Amino acid sequence: MSQLNTKHLLGIKDLTAEEINLIFETADGFKDVLNRPIKKVPSLRDVTVANVFFENSTRTRLSFELAEKRLSADVINFSSSSSSVKKGETLLDTVNNILSMKVDMIVMRHSSPGAPHFLAKHIDANIINAGDGTHEHPTQALLDSFSIREKLGDVAGRKVVIVGDILHSRVALSNIFALQKLGAEVMVCGPATLLPKHISSLGVKVELDIRKALEWCDVANILRIQLERQKMRYFPSLREYSQHYGVNKQLLDTLNKEIVIMHPGPINRGVEITSDVADSDHSIILQQVENGVAVRMAVLYLLAGKKAG
Ligand code: CP
Repeated sequence: MSQLNTKHLLGIKDLTAEEINLIFETADGFKDVLNRPIKKVPSLRDVTVANVFFENSTRTRLSFELAEKRLSADVINFSSSSSSVKKGETLLDTVNNILSMKVDMIVMRHSSPGAPHFLAKHIDANIINAGDGTHEHPTQALLDSFSIREKLGDVAGRKVVIVGDILHSRVALSNIFALQKLGAEVMVCGPATLLPKHISSLGVKVELDIRKALEWCDVANILRIQLERQKMRYFPSLREYSQHYGVNKQLLDTLNKEIVIMHPGPINRGVEITSDVADSDHSIILQQVENGVAVRMAVLYLLAGKKAG
């Protein structure tokens, strides 16, 4: 396979394992480029990309912008907080105005699940979902699996537990799809109130005991408690959450093995993970961020110019 069968990246659900592996092989090449003194290639010269962010972001937004610039694309950035959205302009009007300036690709983050899918029905440009509410965050899952592959040699056959606020997490859903397509076993672990009721129907194991989950896994991907999306209290206090589900060195030291520690960021130090774990040799958190640029370069490169699919 040498190209994707889609013109948009809306979710991992729509990708095949072959397409994910094509993205990884393309990212391998771009990672080599990023380790050279001259980190730039002309692949997206004359392509214009708009990064349209209706929600806050540090990693995803900077990573996409850098990926686009490393590919020699022209880049414009839109942030809803300083835009005419504040004056009542709709999503579709906003994007159509951006596209009328001859923009080819839209990278969009939005708080509403399905916003990029809605956009894909109404516009011609390529759309990359940079996170839609609690639904999917496909490039995060791609960089997460790419980082596991880099660290452990392969994703197939690995046991990965996703820990924490699964209910509000787009990273969890995209990771479940990606890991399963690549042949990993997936478990979710957290308080019952933060696990979606029918999560086991996705074919994942469910574990409420963090120690048992860590004893089972090769890799633990630890998620942030998304207080900004929680409309009610799901646990008594952050202190109590941290006591029961926080991953700390003391807990890891009681395991009979070493596990790989991941976190998509941003980290709430001392809540879901302590600093002695986040900053330890077992943590690949910053490698995940580094790999994000190469993986996003691969996605942009493979989608650019695709008009059908
Ligand atoms: N992992 C992630 O999506 O981080 P940002 O919200 O900072 O983009």
